[in-house]
Amino acid sequence: MRVLVTGAGGMLGRDVVRAAGAAGHDVVALARAELDVTDAEAVASALGEARADAVVNCAAWTDVDAAEADPQGAAAVNAAGAGNVARAAAAAGARLVHVSTDYVFDGAASAPYVESDATGPRSAYGRTKLDGERAVAAAGGSHAIVRSSWLFGEGGRNFVATVLALGAERDEVTVVSDQVGCPTATVHLAPALLELAAGEAQGVFHVAGGGRCSWHELAVEAFRQAGVACRVLPCTTAEMPRPAPRPAFSALASERPESPALPPWQEGLAAYLAGRAVRA
Ligand SMILES: NC(=O)c1ccc[n+]([C@@H]2O[C@H](COP(=O)([O-])OP(=O)(O)OC[C@H]3O[C@@H](n4cnc5c(N)ncnc54)[C@H](OP(=O)(O)O)[C@@H]3O)[C@@H](O)[C@H]2O)c1
Repeated sequence: MRVLVTGAGGMLGRDVVRAAGAAGHDVVALARAELDVTDAEAVASALGEARADAVVNCAAWTDVDAAEADPQGAAAVNAAGAGNVARAAAAAGARLVHVSTDYVFDGAASAPYVESDATGPRSAYGRTKLDGERAVAAAGGSHAIVRSSWLFGEGGRNFVATVLALGAERDEVTVVSDQVGCPTATVHLAPALLELAAGEAQGVFHVAGGGRCSWHELAVEAFRQAGVACRVLPCTTAEMPRPAPRPAFSALASERPESPALPPWQEGLAAYLAGRAVRA
């Protein structure tokens, strides 16, 4: 396959580029400096010229708290930008794999969300991502919208990297224990996106690390696997307010047989830590 990756300089984008290369695909990697997805003309001409079989859209405004202060800025990338990529992919005859998020759900559930569950984003970020999903579907091309969650990967700003950095400096950290989700290693998600790119199934897919846990449990397991002696104290979301509300429960499951299943999140953590050790 010839695969074009947008947002190729991001945490997930870099792993998609690596995974595509490792799988023997021909890769066109476009970071933000090479292709701004908010520029409809630039997107149309880049996708028109690339003659790609598939496009994996990893470009996004991912700062959840900053989106609350600048919803228009977030919408330009996550909603309008996604629409630009989707229309250009449809015009070029390329299949689109578009990445979305568990934050499109309100978090009031007590069992994992499946693809057909009602959405209800609680944050500006979640609303812009949901608008992006709708724009992708409306463009009318062949597409897979992949909702994933709690990503961590090499080189990106993510919870696991942050907590490990804190653990190296402190004896004790405090982490929220009343938000539950599915931590997902980008190194596991990337090949799954390529699998969906090579297929033909349409619509929304939930693809996240197996199992589920709280941020507190994730921190405990990260320290355990990394051999860091740092105590993790639990706290509530109310005790640690943030600008953007987060869903209390956003674990994902799939009701679709075509959805690739990822290894348990603990294995994702192990793969991430192994990658860090190699690159250190
Ligand atoms: N991180 C998570 O926990 C999480 C969870 C669920 C779903 N997701 C989704 O996963 C996808 C990948 O996110 P990530 O975690 O890899 O985040 P990331 O590291 O922030 O990657 C996003 C990339 O998009 C780029 N970008 C921003 N605005 C752009 C624009 N106008 N045109 C082109 N590129 C632009 C960013 O460039 P700059 O860095 O230069 O701004 C960055 O390289 C996103 O769709 C995100 O919504 C993430």
